[in-house]
Amino acid sequence: MDPNRLKGKNILITGAARGMGAANAESFAAQGANVTLGDLDEAEAQKVAERINSAGNGKAIAVKMDVTKRADNAAAVKATVDAFGSINVGLFNAGLNKPRFFMDIDEDNWDLIMNVNTKAMWLGMQETAKQMIAQGPMENHPYKLINVGSIASRKPLVDVTVYCTSKYGCLALTECGALGLAEHNITVNGYAPGVVVTPLWEQLDKDLVEIGFKERAGQAYDDIVENNLVIKRVSYPKDIVGTASFLASDDSDYMTGQMISVDGGWVTK
Ligand SMILES: NC(=O)c1ccc[n+]([C@@H]2O[C@H](COP(=O)([O-])OP(=O)(O)OC[C@H]3O[C@@H](n4cnc5c(N)ncnc54)[C@H](O)[C@@H]3O)[C@@H](O)[C@H]2O)c1
Repeated sequence: MDPNRLKGKNILITGAARGMGAANAESFAAQGANVTLGDLDEAEAQKVAERINSAGNGKAIAVKMDVTKRADNAAAVKATVDAFGSINVGLFNAGLNKPRFFMDIDEDNWDLIMNVNTKAMWLGMQETAKQMIAQGPMENHPYKLINVGSIASRKPLVDVTVYCTSKYGCLALTECGALGLAEHNITVNGYAPGVVVTPLWEQLDKDLVEIGFKERAGQAYDDIVENNLVIKRVSYPKDIVGTASFLASDDSDYMTGQMISVDGGWVTK
């Protein structure tokens, strides 16, 4: 790993207290970036920030934020600028899932998932872009917004209709954002994982048994590996951080509006 690959990048990451958000924060900082870890769970985000600061390359701060609130997104951007001088990259990663069969979806399930996964991404992108525009264009490189999609951005899945709706929305925000922000020298790209072992998936595994879609814990993993994946194993955050780093780095300067699948080949099946 090149400890200077992301030197000079100041990056806001939402949902960074655990899972892929935390793994990306540690990976970015190990490559020289300064990172702001935004999360509802400030105490856990603070622990990740402390680990990063004691590792001694890029610096980290933790901020409490509810991504569904515009003011919290604006405050997280401001905290980044106050701590590091500017913001160059936003990674909109906070997300959740709560499976329901189609006829069991209610307004609470719809609003919860759509607000955190999709509305909050739009708010984060807009508040971050506002600051980038105010800073004026960088010399030689674009600013970057990175959106976290999912296999559920591209495949209909019977047990998670609202999650699919929200993640198809993340793909639309990536493509439309690329068009809308190009004039400000801001690119918008994203990545779409498949099954990543994180607290989100551990909860989903339990919920799938509870709604009767699976009979036993772990069955969802086994079925997906068997039926959907080309690479015959589930993934871990370490399988994702390379793609996120590429999108945050200068190596991705000449791309926009793209969502890269990092899903063990699921999208091809
Ligand atoms: N785990 C997977 O298999 C998988 C697959 C595809 C896509 N994804 C997506 O990747 C992203 C990260 O997922 P993960 O598996 O690391 O999840 P995770 O549950 O491990 O972490 C998500 C983080 O987001 C935070 N968060 C949730 N709601 C928030 C809010 N309103 N405001 C601020 N923070 C909030 C949580 O506190 C948590 O720290 C999500 O967008 C998820 O949809 C995950």
